[in-house]
This record gives sequence, structure tokens and C-alpha cells, in this order.
Amino acid sequence: MERYANLFISFSLLFLFLNYSLFVCKSMASSLQLNHDQINIMANLSKSLFPNSYHNWNTSDPNPCLWDRVTCSAGTSTVVTGLSLSNLSIPTAANVGDFFSILCRLDTLQNLDFSQNYIAMIPDSFFSNCTGLSGLKSLDLSSNELTGPVRNFSSFASLETLDLSYNSLQGTVETQLSSLSKLKSLNLGSNFLIGTIPTFIVDGRRVAVFEELVLSHNQFTGTIPSEIFEYENLTMLDLRGNSLSGTIPEEIEKLSNLKTLTLCTNQLTGKVPATLSNITTLFHFAADGNNLTGNIPSITKFFGFLDLSYNNLSGEIPSDLLASPNLEYVDLSGNRLGGAIPTNLSTRLHRLRLSGNLLSGVIPTSIGKLSKLAHLKLDHNNLYSEIPSQLGNCSNLELLDLSSNALYGELPKEIGNLQKLEVLALQTNNLSGEIPVEMHELQSLYRLNLSSNSFTGEILPTISNFQQLAFIALQHNKFYGSIPYSVNGLESLNELYLGSNYFNGSIPSSLGDLRYLEILDLSCNNFSGNVPDSLSFMNRLIELVLSYNNLSGHLDLSRFLPSVNVVTIGNKDLIVLKGSTESNSPENGVFVTNDSSKRKILVALAVVSSFVAGFSVSFFMSSLTWKFLIRKQAADVQDEDNLSDLNIRNNLQMVQRLRRFHERYYLGQLTTAT
Ligand SMILES: *[C@@H]1O[C@H](CO)[C@@H](O)[C@H](O)[C@H]1NC(C)=O
Ligand SMILES: *[C@@H]1O[C@H](CO)[C@@H](O)[C@H](O)[C@H]1NC(C)=O
Ligand SMILES: *[C@@H]1O[C@H](CO)[C@@H](O)[C@H](O)[C@H]1NC(C)=O
Ligand SMILES: *[C@@H]1O[C@H](CO)[C@@H](O)[C@H](O)[C@H]1NC(C)=O
Ligand SMILES: *[C@@H]1O[C@H](CO)[C@@H](O)[C@H](O)[C@H]1NC(C)=O
Ligand SMILES: *[C@@H]1O[C@H](CO)[C@@H](O)[C@H](O)[C@H]1NC(C)=O
Ligand SMILES: *[C@@H]1O[C@H](CO)[C@@H](O)[C@H](O)[C@H]1NC(C)=O
Ligand SMILES: *[C@@H]1O[C@H](CO)[C@@H](O)[C@H](O)[C@H]1NC(C)=O
Ligand SMILES: *[C@@H]1O[C@H](CO)[C@@H](O)[C@H](O)[C@H]1NC(C)=O
Ligand SMILES: *[C@@H]1O[C@H](CO)[C@@H](O)[C@H](O)[C@H]1NC(C)=O
Ligand SMILES: *[C@@H]1O[C@H](CO)[C@@H](O)[C@H](O)[C@H]1NC(C)=O
Ligand SMILES: *[C@@H]1O[C@H](CO)[C@@H](O)[C@H](O)[C@H]1NC(C)=O
Repeated sequence: MERYANLFISFSLLFLFLNYSLFVCKSMASSLQLNHDQINIMANLSKSLFPNSYHNWNTSDPNPCLWDRVTCSAGTSTVVTGLSLSNLSIPTAANVGDFFSILCRLDTLQNLDFSQNYIAMIPDSFFSNCTGLSGLKSLDLSSNELTGPVRNFSSFASLETLDLSYNSLQGTVETQLSSLSKLKSLNLGSNFLIGTIPTFIVDGRRVAVFEELVLSHNQFTGTIPSEIFEYENLTMLDLRGNSLSGTIPEEIEKLSNLKTLTLCTNQLTGKVPATLSNITTLFHFAADGNNLTGNIPSITKFFGFLDLSYNNLSGEIPSDLLASPNLEYVDLSGNRLGGAIPTNLSTRLHRLRLSGNLLSGVIPTSIGKLSKLAHLKLDHNNLYSEIPSQLGNCSNLELLDLSSNALYGELPKEIGNLQKLEVLALQTNNLSGEIPVEMHELQSLYRLNLSSNSFTGEILPTISNFQQLAFIALQHNKFYGSIPYSVNGLESLNELYLGSNYFNGSIPSSLGDLRYLEILDLSCNNFSGNVPDSLSFMNRLIELVLSYNNLSGHLDLSRFLPSVNVVTIGNKDLIVLKGSTESNSPENGVFVTNDSSKRKILVALAVVSSFVAGFSVSFFMSSLTWKFLIRKQAADVQDEDNLSDLNIRNNLQMVQRLRRFHERYYLGQLTTAT
């Protein structure tokens, strides 16, 4: 009994305590009461930004500390310490001048975020004569429309973080920021700044204590100045997307706290310094899109991310380069690397891209240990190898591109285990044998390119399992048999290439059910019988290639939309009707040469017309952007990956979508170009 009484008392006390806490919290909130002066300033600030009553900064409460976007702190007295006015569509026409001069009286402010608005002009007096904000620690004016030179920031002696990125600032950076002796993080990225990389050293004196320095996507020239290496506390140095020349200095190792070093898309030459391996904190190193030469030293001991793609690196890949246990991402595409692919591979690898080199030898079987691997690109090398069955153990693989090598042998049935596979590109090799039935398990497959090999066998009716498939390229192989009627189950199909095989039989009318089909190539086979009428009902179709078969009967071209390019040459019994005229196809059939450039122009023209007709935006993108994508690829991938680095969890989905988009169109151009 006594025990229950105790229990009851404990519960009551707990209840009282909870109630009391609630009370304390409430009274604390209402005690966040500003003095009269601060209330006035805040009211005037809100009025200066939004002279009209409606706006999306909720200032309806009489106590500004309860407005959203306002942070107050309660010390001896309550004061406003933070304003977060990001993304409020504040136009430059608002009384922004008034706003900034009133703001200078808010002398308790520590953090001001004014990013993502449309401000083009801030009065110079704000930067040089705003003594009230001498306690400001963080100022974010990024993603506005600021123009002109970087102003003299002499007002803000306490500033630790300054972000001016994504504006249109011009000119050089010299001493304008030299009053900011406490600056730890500076972002001037994505402007039009010129001159040499600022060193923030005035009269031999370091004027800031940098930890993060972002100068990316400007027009800085010259070399990487060695003065930068005096900022021993730098954790992030981002110089990508400028026009820097010269070498990556060996003294870079002085930056012994560096975590991220991005030098991509410049004109850097010389070797990759081996001293990078001495920076034990360095996790992310990217210098893709430069003109670096020589061998790659063993630098990855502490790395998680390495991108040296699109340089001019040569020699062999060091045997331990891909082995370091933290390594998640490696891209060495587009160099002149030779020798074999190292066999010692980090089991954390998520992406491995070695495309476009001179690699020879085999695909290592150790690849089967990479259970996290999502992207594997080994295309455009000289690999002379079978496809190891161990690949089937990489159960997270989404993209597998082994095209344009000298691979031989049969496709291992274990490929069927790759349930997440979306892109399978094996074209232009010497692979043979039948496609294993296990392949039909690949429910996520989006692109399948097996063209230009020696594959054989028939297309099974179960091909209709591939509900996601948008692209099938089987041309230039030894496939035979007929196209199964169930082909109409490929609901998402955009492009189907079956040319130059030994297919026969009639063309199934069910092909006409493929509502999204844009390109159908049946050329150079042994198809016979009539061309089914249903093909003329496909209103997305832009190219129908029937040439060099044994087709017969009448084909009335006037039934097709004008945007469709129908190629019929080489069917001696096919009578082609063009409107009212009638002809045998060999002489008058619409003929497209095998010249791939002409072909592309034709396709592009057809695409433009179908786009104008409002049909296919996505295909338009794929055809017209491919030229830009091929060279921009390194930079694009880089940006996406940095995105994921900043906010891995939150951005993962978006990044994957972007990446998927990128891969599709990038790979799309590769496969249609070959
Ligand atoms: C706020 O504006 C009013 C009138 O516009 C003015 O009288 C007052 O001095 C201003 N107060 C502050 C603190 O700026
Ligand atoms: C604005 O704030 C008030 C008080 O804090 C609140 O009651 C109201 O719902 C808010 N309005 C909007 C649109 O968020
Ligand atoms: C900015 O605001 C708009 C609507 O006001 C919203 O759609 C958009 O997502 C916001 N952007 C960011 C980056 O928060
Ligand atoms: C600086 O601002 C004060 C008032 O805020 C003003 O009196 C003074 O003239 C200004 N000085 C300059 C150089 O603009
Ligand atoms: C910036 O302002 C400070 C103090 O007013 C002055 O000493 C310095 O020369 C100015 N720098 C530039 C580049 O105008
Ligand atoms: C680096 O940080 C340490 C500790 O905070 C500090 O003592 C040192 O002065 C800093 N170095 C530089 C170059 O700012
Ligand atoms: C790393 O640092 C050590 C000690 O300073 C030095 O002996 C070694 O040569 C450095 N390694 C490289 C690759 O620079
Ligand atoms: C790379 O540098 C070499 C000389 O080292 C030069 O011949 C070549 O044109 C440069 N290539 C590019 C793309 O800048
Ligand atoms: C690659 O480097 C070699 C020298 O090692 C140079 O001759 C060649 O021009 C460079 N190629 C490119 C594309 O820059
Ligand atoms: C593979 O690399 C790791 C990490 O560098 C190393 O510990 C291991 O001994 C290497 N294994 C072989 C077989 O070389
Ligand atoms: C692949 O997985 C099988 C079991 O599914 C296992 O027996 C084999 O050792 C694995 N191979 C590698 C290289 O990990
Ligand atoms: C392709 O493989 C066949 C045997 O399957 C062989 O005869 C032929 O030489 C190979 N072709 C090339 C280019 O390696």
C-alpha cells in the first residue's frame, strides 16, 4: 500500500513539475521584450522593405522577437541578434537604401542573411560607414544582383563569415577586405572577378584567419599564389572554374588541416604533387579538367574522393591508389593512363570511373567485393577480358558501362542479380553467346546497349518484362528469329535498334502500340511481308528505317506524319506510295547514307520539328545538348557531387535525379554517336 502511495506522490510531483516547466517556458517567451528603440527600428525596417501591408515576412505580432526570421537573445536585456531575410523576393526597387541605413542602428545584430533576393545596389556607406554593425559576425548577401567592384568592408571588423557568391561583382580583389581581420569563411564564388587570386596579405601581414576560402567560378588568372599556404587553418580551398595556370605547388602540404581542395576546370599544368598524401585531413581532392601531366602519385591514403578526370595524365595507376579504405569516389576518365586496373579496391567505393584511357588487361574479379558500388564506367579502354561473374555481387550497381573495349566471352548469368541496374552499356566489344535468361530479372533497366558484338539467339517473349526500358540497341550482332508479338509490353520504349542482324519473319503489328517510340531501326535483316499499317499511327515516331530487308506489298508514305523519316531502300518487292506517285523503292526510296553526321542532322531536324509540334521535350534535350555535355561532363559531375557533399542526406534524392538525367543524356549521346 505504502509503495502505491509513494508512486502516487511521485507521479503528482512529476505532473506539477511538468506544469511548472511549461509555465516557465511561456513566461520566458513573453519576457523576450525588446526595448522601445529596438521595437522602433524593427518596425521601420519592415516598413522600409515592404511599404505595402502585404508581404511574406510575418510581422503581425507586436513583439518583433516573435516575428519569424528574427532571432533575439535574452541576456541582461533582450536584443535582436539575427535577421534571416533570405528568399523574400525583395526587389532592388524597395527602399533598400533606407533599410540598410536603418539597419546600421541595430547595433546588437550578429547575423544577417539577405541571400536570394534581387538586390542590385547597396549604398557604399553601408560597407564603409556602418559603425553600428561593428559587432556583425556573419553577413550573407549571396544570390542577389550586386554589380560593380567588391566594396571596402571597413565597417565590419568583427565579421567571421562573408558570403558574396552568386552575384555579378566585377573587378579585382585587393585591399577591400583587409579590415576583416577575424574572417574565417569567405565565399566570392560565381561572380566576374578578375586579376590574380587574392592573398589577403597586406604589407607582409596576414589580414584574415581563413578556414574556408571559396573563389570558384570567376575569371581569376595567374598561378596559385604560395601566400595562400600560410593559411595553415584552411579546411576548404575552392578555386575551380577560373583560368589559373602554372602548377599545383608542392608546398600545398603546408595546409595540414585541409579537408576539401577543388582546383577543377582551370589550365593547371605539371604534375599532381605527391605531397598531397601528407595532408592527413584531406578527404576531397578534385582537379579534373586541367592539363596535368605525368604519373599519378600514391596520394589517396586519407582520401574519400578523387577526381582527376580530363587531364593528360599517363603511366600506370599505382597499385594502392584505389585501395585506401575510405575511398568512395574515383574518377580518372579522359586521361592517357595505361597498364592494368589495380586489383586492390576499397570496399567503400561507390563510383569508379576509368573511361577513356589506355587501360589494358582484365576487369579484376575483386570488383565483386564492392557491395556499395553504384556506378562503374570502364568504357573506351583496351580491356581484353571476360566479364567476371563476380560482378553479379555488386548488388547496388545502377550503371555499368564497359563499352568500346575488347571484351570477349559470354555474358555471365550473374548479371541477372543486379536488381538496381538502370544502364547496361556493353556495345562495341567482342562479346558472344546468348543473352542469359536471368537478364530478364533486371526490372529497373532503363537503357540496354549490346550493339556491335557477336551476340546470338532469339528475342524471348518475356522481353515484355522490361517495363522501364526506354532504349534498346541490339544492332550489329548475330541475333535471329522474329520479333515477338509481346514487344508491345515495352511501354516506355523510345528507341529500338535491331539493324544488321539475322532477324526474319514479319514485322508484328503490335509494334504500333508503342506510344512513345521515336526511332525504330529494322534495317539489314531478313524481315518479310507487309509493313503493318499500325506503324503509321505512332505519333511520336521520327525515324523508321526498314532498308535492306525482304519487305513487300504497298507502303503509303502519306499516312505518316510529315515529321517521320521513312527509309525503305533495298526492299525490291516493296511498293512505296508517296502521295499520288508510286514507285519501287530501290530507286526512289528515301535514302539516308550511313554517314553518321548526316544521319544525326536528319534526326536532329526531325526532333526539332517534333518539338515544335509539342511532342517530345526530353528527346529534344538529348539530341541538342549532347555536344555541350561531352566536354562539360567533368564540371557537371563535379557540381553535383559537391552538392551531395554539402548536404548529403537532404540532397541525395535531388542529386540522384540530376545524376540520372545526366547519365541518361550523356550515355545517350555516346551510344547514338557509335
Ligand atoms: C521610425 O520611423 C519613424 C517615422 O517614419 C520615425 O519618426 C522614427 O524616428 C523612426 N525610428 C527609428 C528608431 O528609426
Ligand atoms: C503570423 O504570426 C502570427 C503570430 O505569431 C500567427 O498567428 C499567424 O498565423 C502567422 N501568419 C502566417 C501567415 O504565418
Ligand atoms: C524561395 O521561395 C520560393 C517561394 O517563395 C520557393 O518556391 C523556393 O523553394 C524558395 N527557395 C529556396 C531555396 O528556399
Ligand atoms: C558616417 O555616418 C555618420 C552618421 O551615421 C555621418 O554623420 C557621417 O557623415 C558619415 N561619414 C561618411 C564619411 O559618410
Ligand atoms: C578601406 O577603408 C579603410 C578605412 O576607411 C581605408 O583605410 C582603406 O584605404 C580603404 N581601402 C580601399 C581599397 O579603399
Ligand atoms: C590557426 O588556429 C590556431 C588555433 O585556433 C591559432 O592559434 C593560429 O593563429 C591560427 N593560424 C592562423 C594562420 O590563423
Ligand atoms: C611527407 O612528410 C615527410 C615529413 O615531412 C617527408 O619526409 C615526406 O617526404 C613527405 N612525403 C611526401 C610524399 O612529400
Ligand atoms: C596542355 O599542355 C601542353 C604542353 O604541356 C600543350 O601542348 C597543350 O596544348 C595543352 N593542352 C590544353 C588542352 O591546354
Ligand atoms: C599531353 O601531354 C603531352 C606531353 O606529355 C603533350 O605532348 C600533349 O600535347 C598533351 N596533350 C594534350 C591534349 O594536352
Ligand atoms: C590493399 O590495400 C590495403 C589498404 O592500402 C592494404 O592494407 C592491404 O594490405 C592491401 N592488400 C593487398 C593484397 O595488397
Ligand atoms: C560473390 O558472392 C558469392 C555468393 O553469392 C560468394 O560465394 C562469392 O565469394 C562472392 N565473390 C566475391 C568476389 O566476393
Ligand atoms: C572476336 O572473337 C572471335 C572469337 O569469338 C575471334 O575470332 C575474333 O578474332 C575476335 N575479334 C576481335 C576483334 O578480337
